[in-house]
Amino acid sequence: MTLQVAVLISGTGSNLRALLEAIDTGECDARVTAVLSDRDTAAGLQLARERRIPTRCVRLRDHADREAWNHSLARAVSDTGAQLVVLAGFMRVLGKPLLDAFPERILNVHPALLPSFPGKDGPGDALTAGVRISGCTVHLVDEGVDTGPILAQAAVPVLPDDTRDRLHGRIQRAEHRLLPRVVHWVSTGMLVLGRRPHLEHVLSDDRILFVPDPSQ
Ligand code: GRF
Repeated sequence: MTLQVAVLISGTGSNLRALLEAIDTGECDARVTAVLSDRDTAAGLQLARERRIPTRCVRLRDHADREAWNHSLARAVSDTGAQLVVLAGFMRVLGKPLLDAFPERILNVHPALLPSFPGKDGPGDALTAGVRISGCTVHLVDEGVDTGPILAQAAVPVLPDDTRDRLHGRIQRAEHRLLPRVVHWVSTGMLVLGRRPHLEHVLSDDRILFVPDPSQ
């Protein structure tokens, strides 16, 4: 059965667009059942509306405190009936209520090769550090900031004349290939999520590197 996915965004939604396009072409066997945001100005919400995907905005400032917001968000995501939650540029740390409602069923895409450069500015931090290779990571979300088990990574070069935005653009193009693929792997059972996620089949792709748990 097609995997039902809720996508959480805070901004442009280019990863949401890439996921929807991969679903359209049949590369990704999933259905986006809802798009949620913490910002009503998130451009990705418009994209969802154009495609008649239900949207929901859960703003922190409409709640008494962060705990109340965490509970509202968990309720809103649970109400979508989603089986998998994808954070695609969702700029807030998730609280326990949502993590508990979807144990090992929440993915995040991050613009750096974790565990290097977690946090808000992966591309800028990679550039400042002078690394020659950067990329993106899709990982399971836990209570930390970009600390959950790594599912897949794609590498891109850092070029001599790169600016932060140019590097981020190159990383995002890699994200747009990687994220739909990981969702497809989960949907088809090729990738089994859990405390020790593992791939059922060996993959070969020159741009995408799956990083399995060494103990598997
Ligand atoms: C992406 O680079 C993602 O890795 C990071 O936020 C950015 C979101 O971009 N977490 P978009 O909204 O999908 O265009």
